[in-house]
Amino acid sequence: MSFENLLLDRDGVVAVLAINRPQVLNALNSSTIDQLRRAVLELKHDAAVRAIVITGAGEKSFVAGADINELATQRAAEAKEHALRGQHVLDLIENMGKPVIAAINGYALGGGCELAMACTLRVAANTARIGQPEITLAIIPGYGGSQRLARLVGKGIALEILLTGRQLTADEALQIGLVNRVVPAEDLMSESKKLAAELATKAPVAMQYIIEAVNGGLDVSFDKGQFLEATLFGLVASTDDMREGTTAFLEKRKADFKGR
Ligand code: COA
Repeated sequence: MSFENLLLDRDGVVAVLAINRPQVLNALNSSTIDQLRRAVLELKHDAAVRAIVITGAGEKSFVAGADINELATQRAAEAKEHALRGQHVLDLIENMGKPVIAAINGYALGGGCELAMACTLRVAANTARIGQPEITLAIIPGYGGSQRLARLVGKGIALEILLTGRQLTADEALQIGLVNRVVPAEDLMSESKKLAAELATKAPVAMQYIIEAVNGGLDVSFDKGQFLEATLFGLVASTDDMREGTTAFLEKRKADFKGR
């Protein structure tokens, strides 16, 4: 499938998806959000894809937020629908069951920061700038930013970022755990793809259950989270890959996972 505002490339088991509206720093308009939803569903259901890298086309920007041209004119009901549609797509990314790496190649502001936070891991170029500037437009985040940021970096720091609207440097983002790694800008794609390829060698069902256990456990009580973990721990014991992983260890050989 091809998309007007997205570039989708496959390199073996790793897919690279780039938001492609560089003339507006890859701002997310409604059409791009809809294309992103379709691309994410395609990648989720493609068994040949084991890991995904999401980035922004061009040199300057990952995603500079929701498209302000659209935001400027919308009324209440329309704005609510807009937020719900964006939240839905980012939820799909967060719960794709496959590792998704945000390769943050420049501005990740507003919806861009929200998109990166919905990814499983974040690698930033040392030139990246990350933040939630909605307050400067007299609006608030609409794609889950107020919720994911507080969960990722803690309430106090999240409130500071949300209320000041300030852009963080990549190193500041690393310090507070907003990104996992910072690399030289010229190495961003190779390092992100390398990380994706490394994750793609792991057993896919166990990978999916770890993501489900962490995501599903964060919003319930500790006991319920542990019960979810135990249930998934039980389910993973039914996979061929679990037998292969444990047997390969005992036989001192490299495991060959089949994804079932
Ligand atoms: N929505 C729509 N258009 C956007 C945009 C957005 N979120 N972000 C950037 N653009 C457009 C600009 O309007 C400009 O268009 P033009 O060439 O027709 O004038 C083009 O992208 C380049 O942006 P520009 O502002 O000239 O680049 P810059 O290097 O001076 O500044 C930013 C870069 C990211 C700091 C600045 O573009 C910005 O603040 N963008 C908005 C960020 C934001 O508030 N995001 C949250 C939205 S909810």
